[in-house]
Amino acid sequence: MEIHIVEDGATGAEVVADQFARTLREAGPRGAVLGLATGSSPVPAYTELIRRHREEGLSFAGSRAFLLDEYVGLPAGHPQSYHHFIRENFTSHVDIDDAAVVSPDGTAADPVAEAASYDRRLVEAGGVDLQILGIGSNGHIAFNEPGSSLASRTRVVGLTRSTIEDNSRYFASAADVPVRALSQGLGTILEARRIVLTATGAQKAEAVAQLAEGAISARWPATVLQLHPDVVVVVDEAAASRLE
Ligand code: F6R
Repeated sequence: MEIHIVEDGATGAEVVADQFARTLREAGPRGAVLGLATGSSPVPAYTELIRRHREEGLSFAGSRAFLLDEYVGLPAGHPQSYHHFIRENFTSHVDIDDAAVVSPDGTAADPVAEAASYDRRLVEAGGVDLQILGIGSNGHIAFNEPGSSLASRTRVVGLTRSTIEDNSRYFASAADVPVRALSQGLGTILEARRIVLTATGAQKAEAVAQLAEGAISARWPATVLQLHPDVVVVVDEAAASRLE
């Protein structure tokens, strides 16, 4: 695990964007398979990638993207759906084909079958070249809450009270936050060939310390990343403040 402690969000966004640029370069004209997260953490990096696309010609042509997760019950067009979020904050501003940006269908009649089909689609695409992750203050990655199996696959998960409270800032009230999601599992995420995780702020400090230095345990799901050979962690000083 390579840890970058950066001065500010802009520097962090550049470090993360460099990982995307490298992956796109290595993939060449066939394009890359990108694993995308929602939430506030990756947004500065997405903004930097949009800037590089517009000003420096960074191209996503031929690439495909898979989201980590989606709320159960929210249709794709809902303003708080992750389908909508990723288009608004990233993919509709770069040259990636909209049909190539895939997320679990939160309105699928059979969410269990949808989860299994999502894992199959990931395999058929050849797997993820670069996965970007945020981290919850309780150590979750995607919606793998504490207690998630370290080998878990894409599945229907219940959200913890702390995650519902964290995410209620995007909704009118906590009561409006869906209580279930379709989420890639920890085992699914580990299959990405390269992972970059980004976090800022003191509220992430304990989760970041556990991620990098804690015992690998389902109590802190992100600790499973210690088993992956190619993880870059980009944190500001506040998020790094509890590292030894
Ligand atoms: C989002 C996701 C979540 C977030 C995490 C951090 O697709 O899977 O695990 O990465 O909740 O959220 P922010 O970045 O909003 O602090």
